[in-house]
Amino acid sequence: MIRFDDKYMTFHMSTPKTSYVSAVVDGSYLGHVYYGPRIDDMDLGYLMKTEYNPFVPSINSREKVRFMEAFPKEYAGAGTGDMRSICFDVRNEDGQAGLQLAYVSHHIFKGKPTLSGLPSTRGDEDSCDTLEILLTDSILSMNVYLYYTVYRDLDVITRSVQIENSGASTLFLTNVMSAMLDLDPTTDMEVITLHGSWARERRIERTKVDYGTFSVESIRGESGPQDNPFMALVTPNTTQTTGQVYAMNLVYSGNFLASVQKEQYGKLRMMMGINPWHFTWKLMRGQTFTAPECVMVFSNEGLGEMTRTLHRLYRHHLIPKQWETAPRPVLVNNWEATEMDFDLDTLLEFAREAKTLGMDMLVMDDGWFGERNDDSTSLGDWFVNEKKLPGGLKALSDKVHEMDLRLGIWIEPEMTNSESELFKAHPDWVYQLPGREPGLWREQLVLDITRPEVFDGVYSQIKKAFETAQIDYVKWDMNRPLCEVGNLVLPPDQQGELMHRYTLAVYRMQEQLLTDFPDILFENCSSGGARFDPGMLYYSPQIWTSDNTDAIERLYIQEGTAICYPLSSMGAHVSACPNGQTRRTVPFDTRAKVAMAGTFGYELDTRNLTEEERSLIPGQIEIFRKVSPVVVDGDYYRLASYNENGIYDSWAVVSRDKSLAYMTYVQVKAEPNKKPIRICMQGLDPDKRYSVRVVDPKPHVFEDRKPEELADVVQTLSGGALTNAGLIVPRLWDDYQALLYEIEEVQ
Ligand code: GLA
Repeated sequence: MIRFDDKYMTFHMSTPKTSYVSAVVDGSYLGHVYYGPRIDDMDLGYLMKTEYNPFVPSINSREKVRFMEAFPKEYAGAGTGDMRSICFDVRNEDGQAGLQLAYVSHHIFKGKPTLSGLPSTRGDEDSCDTLEILLTDSILSMNVYLYYTVYRDLDVITRSVQIENSGASTLFLTNVMSAMLDLDPTTDMEVITLHGSWARERRIERTKVDYGTFSVESIRGESGPQDNPFMALVTPNTTQTTGQVYAMNLVYSGNFLASVQKEQYGKLRMMMGINPWHFTWKLMRGQTFTAPECVMVFSNEGLGEMTRTLHRLYRHHLIPKQWETAPRPVLVNNWEATEMDFDLDTLLEFAREAKTLGMDMLVMDDGWFGERNDDSTSLGDWFVNEKKLPGGLKALSDKVHEMDLRLGIWIEPEMTNSESELFKAHPDWVYQLPGREPGLWREQLVLDITRPEVFDGVYSQIKKAFETAQIDYVKWDMNRPLCEVGNLVLPPDQQGELMHRYTLAVYRMQEQLLTDFPDILFENCSSGGARFDPGMLYYSPQIWTSDNTDAIERLYIQEGTAICYPLSSMGAHVSACPNGQTRRTVPFDTRAKVAMAGTFGYELDTRNLTEEERSLIPGQIEIFRKVSPVVVDGDYYRLASYNENGIYDSWAVVSRDKSLAYMTYVQVKAEPNKKPIRICMQGLDPDKRYSVRVVDPKPHVFEDRKPEELADVVQTLSGGALTNAGLIVPRLWDDYQALLYEIEEVQ
């Protein structure tokens, strides 16, 4: 609900449990008043009157700059007195900066506008309301539209910004953040971010917010594994179930900046948007620029509530509609088993075994095109290597579908190698700075797909190849960051647009792919999980989480990823051991139980399985088919964190009607002679009674019980007991053991 009170010039936005209030002060300045637990008062202007800021410029113009530097704003422009981090900056044709935004008007309407060329969360007249506030800088003749959308059944506010040049002269935008939040917390705050690297993506980082500025960012041309466009401010001691959380998540897959500044008076300014580094945007008369959407969530009930709110938003309002509740196919991917050393026979053997074991789909990874036998060649040559695949994609697709399996395929459209037909014909198609040798990464060069002829040259090949066969799934990879970002076409005063234009071109191509092949299941990937962000989720309901498939490392990676992204979006496979990234050997059973927290599949040689593995796979798939609907549509609860306790991990998914839950417990370290571990469930109905059963206990050896005994143990407990007293999990012999519990309502 959005209300405007013209007496107090106050905008009051409310979601079921939160309120966000801003107000026009002194007839001109748009101030931030309040964000937090829901309150319904309209007159909250007193919150803005503090002892160091008792005046407004119309009364006390001799101290206008002191007002500007302290007044809590909705959107701070540069150069006119706000000395804190600013979120908007513009140069005019004379190279001068400085702007002051004044309130002009507003408009409240049902539904939610889409953002031109950019992914954004979806909403219609029944699910959300939008406030558009128009601010202007009359000297620059520039209009700034701030958009706030509130969801009626979710504690979410999305924000975006549109800049319009309504004057005659050209403007150069040098900083357009998507959202800013001026907070005046009553306690110290901590900041949570997701940090990482290749094969170590999205580790949860938490640190105190101190005076100065803390930021995370990407300047890599993708969101990157180093930092994620997610930031949450939390009150000290915030847990999964208690504490206040202010979260921002940017629906964008390029260079971003997320920052929080503790300024001189101890107030906080948080913001998120496109990274201003090397960013300019030339805005000519009548043109508009749209900043990506920023999602904001406030939770008064700890991190778990924030997580579930984001998951619901992304599942129901971001990922493509047809995958909202659709079960995901169990696939086998050949990458870790064969890399590029495969041919039609190899793949068909994989497929036959996969079918026998109960899988749904074969995914052919990198290496099917051009002369690609190692990673030094052929990106950009999207025609089938008939030496490997005689009869082309059609022959493979026909045979795979005859087996009643689906077929997936790997592509990396944004890249080329100097050893490729494409590069030889068009050496000018790659990003480059004149006179400099473009730096290689995995021997790859980045194609300048911002140019229409490059975009078409690549995309038309892919489309042609796909049209020859039935392709059910596409894994879109991107295996290097951008540097030497220059192009040979844009004028000098637009070279600063290239990073953002690149991201827009990626979105355009993904949109095109989905338009041409609307039924494919689309998975994004970038050297593992280097582009795991809400922007990508708009196109692909799932993203490859990490090239690190070691089940124990995955505990960290999946916990961090799931703090904001739905479990159903996390690509997770059972791979062979010793693991390729860690050399660790984890029981096959544990590998499967960890992968069941995501999309689930196998990434190993189905021709070379041990007898034990072969015997376990059909049962694992059967279990996954039961667990998967709750993963896709239920709520996720983090119960214990190996990241925090160093010994064990536990999470649960609970169906929306609270009638069915699956709880996973992973004992990373065996500890002899210690008290049993109790896991307190969350999300159950305290008044319902549930049967509790260990699913598939056979592979385990228990310290205190024979596995056969446990198979039959069905406890019946109330939701209250399971939540408050907890479930006692047995101590298991050996490290890396996992148990999956089915908790089902009994009448
Ligand atoms: C990236 C991906 C892998 C695999 C390879 C293929 O590293 O993350 O899953 O597809 O590329 O080259």
